[in-house]
Amino acid sequence: MKIYVINGPNLNFLGVREPDIYGSYTLPRVEEMIKKHCDELGVEVVLYQSNHEGDIVDKIQEAYLEKANGIVINPAAYTHTSIAIPDAIKATSLPTVEIHISDPDKREEFRHISYVRDVAIATVKGKGVSGYLDAIDILVRHPEGEPR
Ligand code: DQA
Repeated sequence: MKIYVINGPNLNFLGVREPDIYGSYTLPRVEEMIKKHCDELGVEVVLYQSNHEGDIVDKIQEAYLEKANGIVINPAAYTHTSIAIPDAIKATSLPTVEIHISDPDKREEFRHISYVRDVAIATVKGKGVSGYLDAIDILVRHPEGEPR
């Protein structure tokens, strides 16, 4: 099994950025944790972060072209604004789990909308960075993309 774990804007600033909300782990440390988890599960993982919407769309398309089995994505602020990202997920038909470190539904009103939610098989939120591992576990348990 091969999965893509994609992180959106400002997540490269984990550890620096609002640690009271996002915690003290840096992105390299989170990615190391993800890699170790995937190794234990025997899952091949491609890790990616970008601050640019179009690059994220390109990476989602790459996941399809590279015959990945699924995607874990934290679209960050693009969660609440992007149509191109859910369109790309839909275009690939790859089972996708949405993850947020914080719980956007318990924060400002503008974070309550997620355009990715409708195209994801599940959403993990408010569990800190360990939510990435939960999201991977959901993908591994539902390789065919069981709908929510
Ligand atoms: C986030 C929540 C978003 O609202 C925010 O814009 C982010 C991170 C999270 O992981 O909690 O950048 O996706």
